[in-house]
Amino acid sequence: MILMEPFGTTKKGEAVERYILENKRGTRVAVLSLGATVQSILVADKNGKPRDVVLGYDSVEQYEADRDTYLGALVGRVANRIARGHFTLDGREYSLAVNNGPNHLHGGLEGFDRKVCRAAVSNDALFFYFVSPDGEEGYPGTLRCCVQYRLDEDNALHIRYRAETDAPTPVNLTNHSYFNLGGEAMEHTLQIFADAITENDETSIPTGAMLPVAGTAFDFAEAKAIGRDIGAQEQQLKFGNGYDHNFILRGEGMREAAVLRSAESGIAMAVETDCPGMQVYTANFFGDRVGKGGAPYSDRCAVALETQSFPDALHHENFPSVVLRPGEVYESETVYRFFTEDV
Ligand code: GAL
Repeated sequence: MILMEPFGTTKKGEAVERYILENKRGTRVAVLSLGATVQSILVADKNGKPRDVVLGYDSVEQYEADRDTYLGALVGRVANRIARGHFTLDGREYSLAVNNGPNHLHGGLEGFDRKVCRAAVSNDALFFYFVSPDGEEGYPGTLRCCVQYRLDEDNALHIRYRAETDAPTPVNLTNHSYFNLGGEAMEHTLQIFADAITENDETSIPTGAMLPVAGTAFDFAEAKAIGRDIGAQEQQLKFGNGYDHNFILRGEGMREAAVLRSAESGIAMAVETDCPGMQVYTANFFGDRVGKGGAPYSDRCAVALETQSFPDALHHENFPSVVLRPGEVYESETVYRFFTEDV
């Protein structure tokens, strides 16, 4: 079942709606037409009590005022970083906004997280449609996008991305939800099905090297508390002020990427995706904020698991390509599946 209600109005005067996806188990996912943002996910804990497991805000004003956390938002045209906001494609040079140290981040100053999308509902699926015009934020080509949200009876939220272009352009779409399944985020256990990360420089741009995780703080092959090794004396952790890295997921096609668990609530979440990578970001630069219902949000209060193509792929021939060409279809899917266990 999908219900719609008004949520507010942007500064530009655009109406924003909230769509509530609910399944027969009583799980409820709220998604906003502003930035196709996942605003809340209510799942029952081990005692049957509903818990909101993602960070978010109560009003359009709060979403518009926050320029740097991307809470729950659709991120694009290119999620993550592009070194120095510059790239060459088919011999032509393009300049983008430099909005994160010396680099371009998450689509620029007015990324997809700021767009109010047109919505359509069909049975249990919610579709958001929008167009990114040629030249928007410096990117070439008109990009037509569709993002689909579907909550199934197995408590899985499916997010499917589709895009087409009329000129070659880079595309890398993700959802920027921050999860806290109950209690301290750093006490959650996390398992990641990855053997390596892309190595970063001090501005979080990949060097091109792939670092094996075995024996390092980045080794989540066996489930471990997120906070266990976050203070380790490793240069990669210092660069990110914690985890803020792209994990190279094992295998290809739709497969399990990670499992996050809270012993406090008994809620667990499996992430499945067909993307090659996943950025793990432990909200290291959050500062103090006030979220839904006046909840205090601070550094490391949640973790984002952003399924994606590798960062700065435009500058690394050994990374999977992020270039979409006319006639091709960008398609990608990520599933967040919730379940409970008494641990
Ligand atoms: C992450 C990024 C972080 C930070 C965050 C938004 O995807 O890797 O460095 O910018 O988004 O606050």
